[in-house]
Amino acid sequence: MPFGNTAIVILGASGDLAQRKLIPALNLIHGRLDGEGSFVVIGSGRTAFTDTAFRRRFDISPEFSKRLFYHRGIPGLKDFIAEKGSFDRVVFFMALPPKVYGSTAGELAAVGFGSEATLIIEKPFGSDLESAMKLDRELSGHFNESQIFRIDHYLAKEAVQNILVFRFANALFYPVWNSRYIESIQINAFETEGIGERAGYFDQAGIVRDMVQNHLMQLLCLITMEAPVSLDAEEIRAQKISVLKAVEIHDCARWQYEGYREEKGVAPGSTTETYAMLKLSINNFRWAGMPVYIRTGKALDRRGTEIGARFKRLPKLLFNRDGTIPPNRAIFKIQPAEGIIIDLATKIPGAGIDIATTNMAFCYRDSFAQEIPEAYQRLLLDAIKGDRTLFVSAEETEMSWRKLEPFLDAGEVRTYRRGKPPAPEWEVDWIDFDMYKDICG
Ligand code: NDP
Ligand code: BG6
Repeated sequence: MPFGNTAIVILGASGDLAQRKLIPALNLIHGRLDGEGSFVVIGSGRTAFTDTAFRRRFDISPEFSKRLFYHRGIPGLKDFIAEKGSFDRVVFFMALPPKVYGSTAGELAAVGFGSEATLIIEKPFGSDLESAMKLDRELSGHFNESQIFRIDHYLAKEAVQNILVFRFANALFYPVWNSRYIESIQINAFETEGIGERAGYFDQAGIVRDMVQNHLMQLLCLITMEAPVSLDAEEIRAQKISVLKAVEIHDCARWQYEGYREEKGVAPGSTTETYAMLKLSINNFRWAGMPVYIRTGKALDRRGTEIGARFKRLPKLLFNRDGTIPPNRAIFKIQPAEGIIIDLATKIPGAGIDIATTNMAFCYRDSFAQEIPEAYQRLLLDAIKGDRTLFVSAEETEMSWRKLEPFLDAGEVRTYRRGKPPAPEWEVDWIDFDMYKDICG
């Protein structure tokens, strides 16, 4: 769909997301439009602002400022938009508390928004299977699935989009990307920050709902899905759903950082987990028998999201009779620095045949000069153009909740010291992702 002439309405425009992410991203998009189309942005909410007072809240260009307006509440919004021009579509961004997503969709429909509307919904999308299904029913009571764009901002990260390119544009890796050659896949998402000011949300959620159900299950899908027949959003979604259907979660261990219960807004005696480790398998022909491990947590010693594929060892012949050749690994660095690293066994120069692990690294910062766009720029631009590839379908969300349901809030929650990840739970050849922290930046 071409960019066209669009009205973008931010519901909850006085909030943190609008302030920190949405308006700055729209300001950048506006500056780079290059005659492709045009848009106005209308902030909305219960708070009263004049256009001028609303504009003053942001550090934006004078040109974009003239395209930014504010309207209090939803009644009268349709006429307000019509006064600003004639638009091909109206994109609503729900930067609202999740509990009002469903009722707000109802209010929009009640004031006459119909097929011209696109609804962008922020996470969290439900807090379990039942609530996600209820929200889907509420939304679909007023809008078609094709109008609903569920955000998972990890899908808009450049290094995440590159996963499918690595897998399906390189003949080198395609034949070995299965459980015959790969011994395990390990996904890590570590953060240094604690929960900060977010106890109101996080203490009800925990890291499994906050990170695993959405971001990390999406990474799992991309790293393991079959090739879609085309790059059409629905074809990609179909392959991701296939993976999710085949997922079997075997175990989920949970921890909480020491001092979490003293954080502002956390319930006394809270058993919400801030670190989780999951073991799962994907029971399809490509992956049967191979374990996948996911580890994610807050208040750790470093920030890093990585995916590692650990290859099987070669038979004990030639150089490795004493078992010293380390297995090959492919490491996808998603953030903070982006790149792909392949570990190789290499002869150490000199007499004899001693072998060392060396690596080949592709680093974004060395290969590409251009700046990597922030996720919300890409998401907003795609939603305006109607491209659903980077958004999550109802079925994906529900399937992910379905698989995690037995593990939500289940089992003992142990503690770990801030800055010190809990020891790996199972007997596994864990990838030490720390080894790669200085590669690519
Ligand atoms: P905030 O609480 O900062 O802002 C939400 C806004 O919604 C408020 O400014 C308020 O505006 C309006 N609002 C609050 N309560 C209600 C209500 N009962 N009915 C209608 N409107 C209400 O939240 P955030 O901006 O941080 O987050 C918005 C959404 O985005 C949430 O779902 C959050 O989970 C999600 N999100 C946020 C991220 C972030 O970085 N902030 C990251 C990822 C997701 P007013 O009082 O003017 O109506
Ligand atoms: C959000 C979670 O969805 O993702 C946060 O709610 C988490 O708890 C954040 O910190 C991580 O995103 P990123 O892009 O910083 O890895």
